[in-house]
Amino acid sequence: MEHKKLAAFPSDFLWGSASAAYQIEGAYDEDGKGLSVWDNFVRIPGKTFKGTNGDVAVDHYHRYQEDVKLMAEMGMKAYRFSIAWTRIFPNGTGEVNEAGLKFYSDLIDDLLANGIEPLVTIYHWDLPQALQDAYGGWESRQIIPDFVNYAETLFKAYGDRVKYWVSLNEQNIFTHMGWQIATHPPGKKDPKLFYQVNHHANLANAAVINKFHEMGIDGKIGPSFAYTPQYAIDSNPLNVLAAENAEELGAHFWMDVYVYGEYPIVALNYLKERGLAPTFEPGDAELLKSAKPDFMGLNFYQTATNAWNPIDGGVENKDSYQMNTTGKKGTSQDSGIPGLQKTVKNPFVETTNWDWTIDPVGLRIALRRIASRYRLPVLITENGLGEYDKLEDGKVHDDYRIDFLKKHVLAIKEAISDGVDVIGYTTWSYTDLLSWLNGYQKRYGFVYVDQDETMTGSLKRIPKDSYYWYKDVIASNGDDA
Ligand code: BG6
Repeated sequence: MEHKKLAAFPSDFLWGSASAAYQIEGAYDEDGKGLSVWDNFVRIPGKTFKGTNGDVAVDHYHRYQEDVKLMAEMGMKAYRFSIAWTRIFPNGTGEVNEAGLKFYSDLIDDLLANGIEPLVTIYHWDLPQALQDAYGGWESRQIIPDFVNYAETLFKAYGDRVKYWVSLNEQNIFTHMGWQIATHPPGKKDPKLFYQVNHHANLANAAVINKFHEMGIDGKIGPSFAYTPQYAIDSNPLNVLAAENAEELGAHFWMDVYVYGEYPIVALNYLKERGLAPTFEPGDAELLKSAKPDFMGLNFYQTATNAWNPIDGGVENKDSYQMNTTGKKGTSQDSGIPGLQKTVKNPFVETTNWDWTIDPVGLRIALRRIASRYRLPVLITENGLGEYDKLEDGKVHDDYRIDFLKKHVLAIKEAISDGVDVIGYTTWSYTDLLSWLNGYQKRYGFVYVDQDETMTGSLKRIPKDSYYWYKDVIASNGDDA
């Protein structure tokens, strides 16, 4: 649908930007913080780009006031950040670490004093190592009460000031990388366990959403899902079926459970046939059905294109494939599951140096698919361009990022004009930060940070051209994008 006249962004639209604790804070062992699985995983040789870690990251822990000041000068309306579980409970459960609680309380107060709405992610992948050691973390149902206890502590401490909560960040990514392809902690390849881990995460997510609602907190809660809309390479019915398979197993498999409390029919049947379906205990089905998120958090980066993949002799590399973590264009490998689908290049879209497709229309499609299937408001919790940036004479001319974001802002406007209820847009990311597997050279921020793979940078903050562009976008409520 082309619109002659596009709808305006709502007047209370949350224009913002995002981050995650491990990627920005540093201070990995300060003020009583416990170790997370990431603090340890990064020390395994070969796991991260050039052995980079978040020990110092961009030192946000010590520089948060400077970071908030720059947000205020930009006119930012919302800031999404995550809480490190290990700062609140160094051992995942048990005694609360007051210094950790205070750090985020001060950050929240500082944001509010500057008119910035805090959006809190409860879990962005940095599981306490103590819980991994005690019972395998997400591999055990014991994670459910521990996750609820941790979240309840946050709701009690900050529920009077925080109105937007993200329960789990990208469950589909952290489980895929942790238990299918072994590139995130705990570094396993175990298809059966992968689906069981997901089941526990679904239960924990539902339990936390219920807890939030039971507590009667004045606010909204939902998960953030990494949604990659799936396309077919052409109208060959088999290729269309391949795209549907990818959508069913790669998207409905999670979002249906969040919203309807049920696994989608075709996906569950596929898992049952292969002995991979998760084990349900009494009460699980009821718990999943009882929880309802208030919004769907959408992390949108790219789209994927599919072709049929025959059961005999097809591409089979779903549990290990070459990812481009070096920024050398063209080094990533397509993947596939025989009998289901394989990914292929889309000739209609450009790609980044890390081989991610650039597809703003895909964002409009993502928003519409979510709105139609789930009938929920959507909060875009991540979207952005990871690229090399060059500091020249104290400036960063990132016109490629402005171009990327401009097109995505327009796509949001079009989706709103189509009838989608979009609450806000927090780009990835606010400052440059550590990309889990890609080091510091893959930059996403509006604010450049002098940090690199040597991890000895001056940590100086320098607003990029995109910072000033976004400032105008916010000031005009999206009209000057
Ligand atoms: C999302 C994560 O998957 O994408 C972020 O929530 C991450 O934490 C972002 O940094 C970009 O991915 P990458 O691999 O380029 O850092």
